Amino acid sequence: MKFVRSTRRIAVTRQVIVALAVLMSLPQAAIASSRLDVFTTSGCSCCFAWIKRMRAAGFTLTVKDVAMGELIRIKLVTGIPATLVACHTAKLGDYVIEGHVPVREIHRLLDERPDAIGLAVPGMPIGSPGMESGNKVEAYTVLLVKKDGSTEIYASYPATE
Ligand code: CU
Ligand code: CU
Repeated sequence: MKFVRSTRRIAVTRQVIVALAVLMSLPQAAIASSRLDVFTTSGCSCCFAWIKRMRAAGFTLTVKDVAMGELIRIKLVTGIPATLVACHTAKLGDYVIEGHVPVREIHRLLDERPDAIGLAVPGMPIGSPGMESGNKVEAYTVLLVKKDGSTEIYASYPATE
């Protein structure tokens, strides 16, 4: 057992070294654009379902479990209007991703790089990523939140049935 364990440790160490070497060879922008720093409160199962979807899509995530008061403070500081908040808040470079935003719009944001605060899916619509409930999808929109607090519809997802 001891032998197996130490072999595994060496393998893990090797993986870390390889990962570090890859990171150091990447331009900073590439690192920033694939990294999501997520703020959530423990016990938020839909947040963790969204986090899982983002990891599956290839994003690197850091997850900070904070108290509700702290999470609200973080949301206010980011500039997302109080009427547009959801459960978790994520930082993607200089952008803010509020709530259950789909991978597709995050990739589009990174491609287009608009002058904006970021994206928000207000509330927690059923059927948005992390909010799956069978095949049911509520109609919802992904909003582009501008720096003056105004919004633009970035994408619309129709309801099923
Ligand atoms: Cu949620
Ligand atoms: Cu959440």
